[in-house]
Amino acid sequence: GKGEYDHYMLKEIHNQPTSLANTIEGRVEDGDVAFEALPPGSFDGIESVQFVACGTSYHAAMYGSQLVREAGIRADVLRASEYESTTGPVDETTLTIAVTQSGETADTLDALRTAADRGARTLAVTNVVGSTAAREADDAVYIRAGPEVGVAATKTYSSQAVTLALLSQRIAGDVPDATPADDRAAMLEALADLPEHVETVLESTHAETLAQDTLDSESFFFIGSGLGRSVALEGALKFKEITYEHAEGFAAGELKHGPLALVTEETPLFAVYTSGDDEKTKTNAIEAKSRGAPIVAVGPTDHPLVDVADAHLSVPETHPVWAGLLANVQLQLLSYHAAKQLERPIDKPRNLAKSVTVE
Ligand code: M6R
Repeated sequence: GKGEYDHYMLKEIHNQPTSLANTIEGRVEDGDVAFEALPPGSFDGIESVQFVACGTSYHAAMYGSQLVREAGIRADVLRASEYESTTGPVDETTLTIAVTQSGETADTLDALRTAADRGARTLAVTNVVGSTAAREADDAVYIRAGPEVGVAATKTYSSQAVTLALLSQRIAGDVPDATPADDRAAMLEALADLPEHVETVLESTHAETLAQDTLDSESFFFIGSGLGRSVALEGALKFKEITYEHAEGFAAGELKHGPLALVTEETPLFAVYTSGDDEKTKTNAIEAKSRGAPIVAVGPTDHPLVDVADAHLSVPETHPVWAGLLANVQLQLLSYHAAKQLERPIDKPRNLAKSVTVE
């Protein structure tokens, strides 16, 4: 049941310190990444990676694919529903990773089957043991987030992103010439603190007040660059999904190529960043501010954006790879509280289903 919480979504948001601890458990050993089912050498022969996914899982896949690319391995992330028209040639040197919470999403299964038919090696990253994706793929990795009831994916996104980040390092260990992150030790050390950092966000957030202050707006925009971009897109998806308000996510640098025409005092802009050197998000947020948009900085305190922003949803200092996930927890809470104030049926938004088994 929902226990002390009004909604499953809030319960699941608050479950993240525990679900993340489960995701991480046993997967970092002696300063290295370990996946029981995928020991060193498992990815021998792989030269490139493609991720296929839908919705929130696509945003987690964006997160993971950036880390695979940073390791010097070619990686693409494709919308599963557009797989046929967006994939390049695949063969046995291609690893196609289907990211799917349920393991039953028709579009994702379809992409997975097409990739396998064309000779790619396949891997399912899923929450559900024994799901169709897990059974059909050559290998399966479980995100171990526990059951998620709310239609809006929250804790499963966090567990997907962490699993994929770890997987990126595991794959890099097997691909010749790949360069696992040079600050990998620091990254893995900071991961151990992630559950506690999420707890800090849950205890200190003022997302509820901020939701109240901004709710009477026309549209809600979310921008970011790099890992921050995937979080911005996820923030906007969650917001529209449960509040029914108009929300869009953009790459920070794209704002001035069109969307800026929509920016007014009635369009709060949430600027997501993961590290202090994210100049692009800052300059584009300033551009929006000069058009009157209220700016909310979403990220660590030590960033020049905080000084120009009207409000700040802060996250604890950590490695940039995990900062985006903490920013996302703030945005989950923002969406939740906005939807609650609007009296939306939070756990079962209109027209949506938890598992989309039609194409
Ligand atoms: O089960 P899957 O991860 O394959 O589901 C994919 C999407 O349908 C899902 O993430 C959807 O976007 C969520 N409702 C978003 O909160």
